[in-house]
Amino acid sequence: ALAAADAEDVIGDWLDEQGVSSAWDLAPALVAGGIEVPWLATVADAVGAEHLESAVRWLAYTIDAELLMGEIDDAVTRVSDLVGAAKQYSQLDRAPQQPVDVHTLLDATLTMLRAKIPAEVRVVKEYDRDLPPIPAFGAELNQVWTNLIDNAVYAMGGRGTLTLRTWGEVDRLVVEIGDTGSGIPDEVRPRIFEPFFSTKAVGEGTGLGLDISYRIVVNKHHGDIRVESRPGDTRFQICLPMTADPEWDTSASR
Ligand SMILES: Nc1ncnc2c1ncn2[C@@H]1O[C@H](COP(=O)(O)OP(=O)(O)OP(=O)(O)O)[C@@H](O)[C@H]1O
Ligand SMILES: [Mg+2]
Repeated sequence: ALAAADAEDVIGDWLDEQGVSSAWDLAPALVAGGIEVPWLATVADAVGAEHLESAVRWLAYTIDAELLMGEIDDAVTRVSDLVGAAKQYSQLDRAPQQPVDVHTLLDATLTMLRAKIPAEVRVVKEYDRDLPPIPAFGAELNQVWTNLIDNAVYAMGGRGTLTLRTWGEVDRLVVEIGDTGSGIPDEVRPRIFEPFFSTKAVGEGTGLGLDISYRIVVNKHHGDIRVESRPGDTRFQICLPMTADPEWDTSASR
């Protein structure tokens, strides 16, 4: 940014000396287009001093238009990525309980949350890609990852490492969400799954995130949530059965 500002000064000064009006408005576009004074001097020689202003304006508009097209292209790609992730995230076009790849769910959740994850939070994925799809309610599991990632990001105060790890344990699949944040104090630990229990300021947390996650994992999927925490290393482990439970609660599918 500093180098660009310097380059704009140089070009602005030069155009001003050549008598080009609003030289300072044109300079940023020219710099963005990678144009430098020696090249502009060649243009001035070619078109003559009286046409320099028109030539420079035309150049600046052309560059602006090109850059905008590039931005639109990027934006369209981002939007279509986001729509794809939103479909995965909501699982709207899917049957509520069917084999799901937890990695696809985790990635869709990360994409949906990308704007909420600060740039200084490094996201590390350690996926065991050999794990099979498991019978599950995908949209609900995405709510679980969302709550856990939200808590982890909050606990790190904007800086740290968020680790998503998966592995298999006999007949269970484990998804671990780890953070390098403050950790959960011993006196808080027994209460974190209580509804409306929150250590966050009023308006910042409802205290429902872990309550909802517990219901989804334990009641609905007959899985389990384990927590290990010390300052700088907190891990929430979601254990899910790899095979459909004969007592699967189909009545709770909506
Ligand atoms: N990764 C974590 N690190 C440290 N503390 C945590 C972590 N996850 C949860 N907690 C503690 O557990 C409490 C309850 O979490 P829970 O997600 O249920 O509610 P919340 O985050 O406070 O509010 P919300 O309803 O917005 O999720 C938090 O207020 C926090 O004290
Ligand atoms: Mg929460």
